[in-house]
Amino acid sequence: MKFFVDTADVDEIKGLLDTGLLDGVTTNPSLIAKSGRNILQVLEEICVLVPGPVSGEVTATNAADMIREGEKLASIADNITVKLPLTFDGIKACYALSQKDIKTNVTLCFSANQALLAAKAGATFISPFVGRLDDIGSNGMDLIADICQIYSMYPTIETEVLVASIRNPIHLLEAAKMGADVATIPAKVIHQLFNHPLTDKGLEAFMKDWESTGQSIL
Ligand code: G3P
Repeated sequence: MKFFVDTADVDEIKGLLDTGLLDGVTTNPSLIAKSGRNILQVLEEICVLVPGPVSGEVTATNAADMIREGEKLASIADNITVKLPLTFDGIKACYALSQKDIKTNVTLCFSANQALLAAKAGATFISPFVGRLDDIGSNGMDLIADICQIYSMYPTIETEVLVASIRNPIHLLEAAKMGADVATIPAKVIHQLFNHPLTDKGLEAFMKDWESTGQSIL
């Protein structure tokens, strides 16, 4: 499973780089606004920090302008992936950009039928938002199960399932058990993944016993 970090905060990314966990980055207009940075400059900086796919989202809503924005975003770096909303125009733009060998990430996906549209349009990634479905009392992980099942039926589908809107470690665990290709995870949740009280307790006991030996490795 690939781990992408869901942020436009360069310091959050730098803080995770030396774990070797980061296979890519996803951003969206809200995360760019939160960063307070210029979208083109922050994406360029992120693309240098993380060699894997870096998603930058278009802000136009008509296909022609989405395509123009997508081509501009793609010109930032070879590892840019153009994020497009799952709308009629977004699917048209996805098809056009995919035909130009520009990587695409179709986002704001909330149904399996939408995911099928994105796959047929040649999307590189599909981003179903599990947390936002949970927020309205619909089980977001059921959508992931449906998409994974449908995509597995058709070997010609190369679109990768990129689980988004992850809010907690359970979302990640269930996505991994379903065989989702990618999870884009907020930095806070990545840090939560390390935590277990028995690990802390066990290390404390090891250190206490080691201290009693009076030895030093270095
Ligand atoms: O990548 C999509 C993600 O940023 C949305 O997360 O928590 O705003 O639903 P959230």
